[in-house]
Amino acid sequence: MKFFIDTANLAQIKEANDLGVLDGVTTNPSLMAKEGIKGDDKIKQHYKDICDIVDGDVSAEVFGIEYNEMIKEGEALAALHPQIVVKIPMIKDGIKAIKYFSAKGIRTNCTLVFSAGQALLAAKAGATYVSPFIGRLDDVSTNGLTLIEDIRQIYDNFGYETQILAASVRHPMHIVECAKIGADVATCPLSAILALLKHPLTDTGLAQFIADSKK
Ligand code: G3P
Repeated sequence: MKFFIDTANLAQIKEANDLGVLDGVTTNPSLMAKEGIKGDDKIKQHYKDICDIVDGDVSAEVFGIEYNEMIKEGEALAALHPQIVVKIPMIKDGIKAIKYFSAKGIRTNCTLVFSAGQALLAAKAGATYVSPFIGRLDDVSTNGLTLIEDIRQIYDNFGYETQILAASVRHPMHIVECAKIGADVATCPLSAILALLKHPLTDTGLAQFIADSKK
């Protein structure tokens, strides 16, 4: 399973990349706003800066929600760097835009996916990635991981090549369960990736080995 980091924070992207396990980055308008990145030029430069840090795919989201706006913005984003994947919301015009980009060889990530039916549409339109938001489903008493299972089954039934990118990951068990189910990618906050390192028996075992090595 690929690990993406879900942030626009350059320090966190560097930290995850330095660990040697990072395969890509996802961003969204909220994450860009959190870093105070505003204005077309600054946003574009920020995406280029992210691409300079990481070797893998970098999802850059369009702001427009109307077909022609999404096409214009998406083409400009894709032209920024070969690593850019255009992130498009799961709406009617979004599906049409994904189909357009797919025909042009521009890679896409269909975002804000909350049902298996939406994921089926994204795959049929030719999305490179589909982003089911598992944490936000959990927030409304619906099992987000069940959605990943359903999408995996549907895509495997028909051999869809769209990669399942589990998003809105909140904690390390989300990552482990996504790996068990067979999500292609989990995009995670840095805290969830680092939490995978932790086990109290590792800490006490290491402390014992250090103490014994001095004997
Ligand atoms: O990748 C989508 C993600 O940024 C949403 O996460 O935690 O805001 O639900 P969250």
